[in-house]
Amino acid sequence: MHDVRGALISRAWPTDRIAFGGDYNPEQWPREVWRDDVRLMAEAGVSFVTLGVFAWSWLEPEPGRFDTEWLDESMDLLHDHGIAVDLATGTASPPPWFSHRHPETLPVDHSGRTLWPGSRQTWCPSSPVFTEHAVALVEMLASRFHDHPALAMWHVSNEYACHNLPCYCDTCADAFRTWLQRRYGHLDALNDAWGTSFWSQRYGDWAEINPPRRTTAIPNPTQAVDYARFGSDTLLEQFLAEREVLARWTPDVPVTTNFMSMSMFRRLDYHRWAAHQDVISTDHYPLTHLDDPVAELAFAADLTRGFAGGRPWVLMEHAPSAVNWQPVNRAKGPGEMIRHSLIHVARGADALGFFQWRASRAGAEKFHSALVPHAGSESKVFAEACRLGRLAGALGEVVGSRVVADVAVLWDYEASWACQQPAHPSNAIEYADVAADVHAGLRAMAITADVVHPSADLSAYRLVIVPTLYTCRDDSAASVAAAAEAGATVLVTYFSGIVDEHDHIRLGGYPGAFRDLLGVRVEEFFPLAPQATVALSDGTSGTAWSELLQAVDAEVVTTFTEQPLAGVPAVTRRRVGAGAAWYVATRLSNTAWATLLNRLTAEAGVQPAAVVPAGIEAVRRACDERSWLFLINHTEADHEVTVDGTDLVDGVERTGTWTLPAGAVSVLRQPAYRN
Ligand code: GLA
Ligand code: ZN
Repeated sequence: MHDVRGALISRAWPTDRIAFGGDYNPEQWPREVWRDDVRLMAEAGVSFVTLGVFAWSWLEPEPGRFDTEWLDESMDLLHDHGIAVDLATGTASPPPWFSHRHPETLPVDHSGRTLWPGSRQTWCPSSPVFTEHAVALVEMLASRFHDHPALAMWHVSNEYACHNLPCYCDTCADAFRTWLQRRYGHLDALNDAWGTSFWSQRYGDWAEINPPRRTTAIPNPTQAVDYARFGSDTLLEQFLAEREVLARWTPDVPVTTNFMSMSMFRRLDYHRWAAHQDVISTDHYPLTHLDDPVAELAFAADLTRGFAGGRPWVLMEHAPSAVNWQPVNRAKGPGEMIRHSLIHVARGADALGFFQWRASRAGAEKFHSALVPHAGSESKVFAEACRLGRLAGALGEVVGSRVVADVAVLWDYEASWACQQPAHPSNAIEYADVAADVHAGLRAMAITADVVHPSADLSAYRLVIVPTLYTCRDDSAASVAAAAEAGATVLVTYFSGIVDEHDHIRLGGYPGAFRDLLGVRVEEFFPLAPQATVALSDGTSGTAWSELLQAVDAEVVTTFTEQPLAGVPAVTRRRVGAGAAWYVATRLSNTAWATLLNRLTAEAGVQPAAVVPAGIEAVRRACDERSWLFLINHTEADHEVTVDGTDLVDGVERTGTWTLPAGAVSVLRQPAYRN
């Protein structure tokens, strides 16, 4: 495996800048446009492109006949202009001939309906026929391009699981049985894990087991969670099959596949996938229906850094302006694209990729923004692309540095899969909600959190937050407890530690896995109606959740003040070793979180990246010799800030109190950061 920094300094990857570029689809354009492309790329400061993501039908126009002359020509042209290539394996979307000859590879939905070709990613994740053809294509590409001087990185497939998971076809049913046999060994073990004594579901033969297809009533939740695990593992096998070919041909060229680390995309267990990436890369698109899409963007960036184990990562795709797949596709205002890009860099990205370079003229994404829009280079978007290209160059010294974070927020895809099953106390519990609330509260205080898996090493964090960790393994619970013992402040929220990995309740009172650590015992849940609030003794309120909680061995910080829970603890704290363990039994309002997070960070000794006015995002990256303070003014007002440093954005030395204009960004070089 390559270190991420190693990847960025590999042969053709530029090191004197934050890499800047995006998806490039020359196959959609005539040759004269290619020449215009490289001219404009040079003008914008593009340093890398991702080539050929959806080019299979050009690369293999008929079964076994390959045509790569056009790709060779494009790579040569790019190389002549100093642009590095992140070469896609092209396997994201098989050509029509493939689906036509192999109809058994078409995915099938929950209700047994076939998904037909005509869009993209039309292949069953379990299909051995697909693997065979994909691997043959990759073998051909690797054999022809392994020594091309433009090749800097391999981009396997594209956004695995975006459209074809879960698939419920018969091939998947067979593969699921095999996966289950490997996992459980014996049917008795499966019957125990799935709790099949309930509703007469006991299996007597592996052949009786199916994917969790559409059922009469509530399906078996453990079967559903295992199907999610199976789906993630199955696609990972597809990735590894391609990776094996590439590693054989080009052991020194990093291999990645672009994740989708938006907090609402949770079909793959990216923590398991991350171990197989040489460089973590991800795509991010803000969702405009959210209350605060930019807060989610920052969360996703911190989550991506978690996949990368804190090392720098690649933002493979984001949008220059509007996307084309939301109900109303809002264009970005002046400077917004640069602010979004800078959030990613501040939070650990060393490369900024866009979808896409030139806006398509035809097809399903013709209204998606691009660095070169339909209007051409005389445009706001292209002008901003040029500005960003210059900025990427000016930020070169940041490459390879780490983000400073003393807080961990735990995040687990398995817990999310189980948490989102039906027939729970409340359908209003969305796995990501509390994590997002806490992260946004910290971000507003200019405090950066690492978003990490429960099995991560927690020993370096001063504050550890465990939001809605519904499923919790024993070793994770032990690691959280050990962090508190060693001096960290730990906070666990409601609906955490409820079940084990098989989705079996931990008996004896909730939250089973954390009961002793927290010194509390919950007898019964009292979820709230959708718009209802519950008053708390400190004058704040909660929503969504309340519970009949007893402080067995904990100090009561706040109580519920309304029936049926008047006087029952809502927030508790227990001293543990050198640290403390807090529990929160409702979904706190933002104001309540602000108050609580102030107290927690003070107790834990967590400092903000800088003291800045509200609406200014402040994040710090650091290496041994120096650090960089990123400031992003998300407001429409100029704000005064009092911080010193050399501003990499314009080269100006800033001292004392100065004005960060509305919408502006600043990256200050400062001395080494000592915590
Ligand atoms: C994803 C895909 C791209 C493109 C964009 C559009 O990120 O990887 O091919 O479809 O979405 O936003
Ligand atoms: Zn299938």
